Amino acid sequence: MVKLVKANLLDIPAMQKLVAKDVKDGVILQRGSDEVATNIRSYVLAKDNDKLVGYGALHIHSTRLGEIRSLIVLESYRGQNIGKRLVEFMLNEAKELKISEEVLVLTYLAKFFIKMNFVEISKETIPEHKIWADCIKCIHFPVCNEISLIYKLGDC
Ligand SMILES: CC(C)(COP(=O)(O)OP(=O)(O)OC[C@H]1O[C@@H](n2cnc3c(N)ncnc32)[C@H](O)[C@@H]1OP(=O)(O)O)[C@@H](O)C(=O)NCCC(=O)NCCS
Repeated sequence: MVKLVKANLLDIPAMQKLVAKDVKDGVILQRGSDEVATNIRSYVLAKDNDKLVGYGALHIHSTRLGEIRSLIVLESYRGQNIGKRLVEFMLNEAKELKISEEVLVLTYLAKFFIKMNFVEISKETIPEHKIWADCIKCIHFPVCNEISLIYKLGDC
């Protein structure tokens, strides 16, 4: 049974190993171990007993805006609703933390998020500091084909 648990600092080596291929392929932005450590409270992990099989992070930009980052499920565990459970967990966290308006995601997998009631938005509406802090680190910058979507927290 795959369980969702909050991350701690000892999880970081396994987290970096799990995401390595998708980072190399440019699907997920590289985040160094120190950056992951700084933001460790943002991460929720999916574990099959002690084995790390997925994770995601809810990053807080402001009182009104959160962002789902680094969502990943181990290839052999995909298609078992683990990604969906991780997103639902992070959306619940966003509500519990009282983020007032919306949760953003930048992704190549719009269909996956649309199934979870995210809606596509124009890239021009993404906060500027996000672009400068994160996008310039991306191997695809400035020619970016990622799609921006938001989940409206007031909707449910
Ligand atoms: C995106 C990802 C996390 C999905 O994880 P998963 O555990 O396989 O997804 P789930 O099993 O929870 O799927 C939930 C729903 O989304 C659908 N879905 C999953 N992957 C999909 C895809 N690539 N395209 C379209 N729909 C998809 C499923 O069919 C399922 O639909 P259903 O509820 O109607 O059955 C996983 O494919 C992954 O790690 N991809 C590589 C990293 C990545 O692109 N991350 C996104 C960065 S933001």
